[in-house]
Amino acid sequence: MENKGSNINWFPGHMTKANRRMQEHLKAIDIVVEIRDARIPMASENPLLKQLAQNKLKVIVFNKADLADPNITKAWQAYFDDQHDNYVFVNATQASSRKDIVNMIEKVGQPKRERDRARGIKNRPLKVMVVGIPNVGKSTLINLLAKKKMAAVANRPGITRTTTWIHISKNLVLMDTPGVLWPKFDDPIIGIKLALTNAIKEQFLPIDVVCEHGYDYLVKHYSDALKARYGIVDSVNYHEFLEALASAKNMRLTQDKLDIERAQLFFFHDIKDHSFDHVSWETPNEYL
Ligand code: G4P
Repeated sequence: MENKGSNINWFPGHMTKANRRMQEHLKAIDIVVEIRDARIPMASENPLLKQLAQNKLKVIVFNKADLADPNITKAWQAYFDDQHDNYVFVNATQASSRKDIVNMIEKVGQPKRERDRARGIKNRPLKVMVVGIPNVGKSTLINLLAKKKMAAVANRPGITRTTTWIHISKNLVLMDTPGVLWPKFDDPIIGIKLALTNAIKEQFLPIDVVCEHGYDYLVKHYSDALKARYGIVDSVNYHEFLEALASAKNMRLTQDKLDIERAQLFFFHDIKDHSFDHVSWETPNEYL
């Protein structure tokens, strides 16, 4: 594992093996359902998938849309419409999302089904697999599509078991095990966004770098939410903010020394526990 200063870039060696296994699984698949996080639609893409799932039909499910900023989501929809992507923004914890996802998968699979029919292949259901980075909602989505609770899936490779196919509609079957894509990126800002949305665990990151970016972003885009939560004015820099927070919460190492680290952890958990309603951590403008 590599973690150099602010450069969060690491890729466990065993994931190479897992990727190879995923490539094997993908051979049997017609349609890949790639889950990304609606709050970071581009940063939660795994660039490896393009390589692993070449020539596969693809649906992108932007999950956790309930946590994203609806105005930014609208801008992202326009962006992905321009790219001609097949996508849905959903909340996989809500039963009503199932129909939107199944309809989109059916739509994407339709030309393939017609080709099969023209070749005399009838009643062959299309095979679907869910893939995505850790914690993006793969298990939740599989449970939603299966309409029942499947076994929990660990975000680690090495669990070998026989594949079971779940019928999700007359024409579709779903692999019961998702593909876990480990985040891999060259740009440290992507790592920061993944950390802010809980895709990378905090013990692996320079928490101060992540939190300072989070704070600056909130000041710039969601200053009202910051003010509402902490009552702190926006001209304050990150360090001054932590001091004000530690003081307000009476977090102290000694009588006259504030516990800045504790304040930082408090702030980080506020971000991860969605204490600021409806925040998106990136906008399409960054990708134009
Ligand atoms: P994974 O298989 O990709 O690792 O993700 P999993 O389904 O386990 O989901 C991770 C967490 O995200 C779960 O919460 C789950 O309830 C939540 N989640 C999944 N989809 C959505 C969604 O659309 N909206 C919201 N708001 N939450 C969603 P958890 O078990 O409580 O974990 P955590 O939130 O403490 O990480």
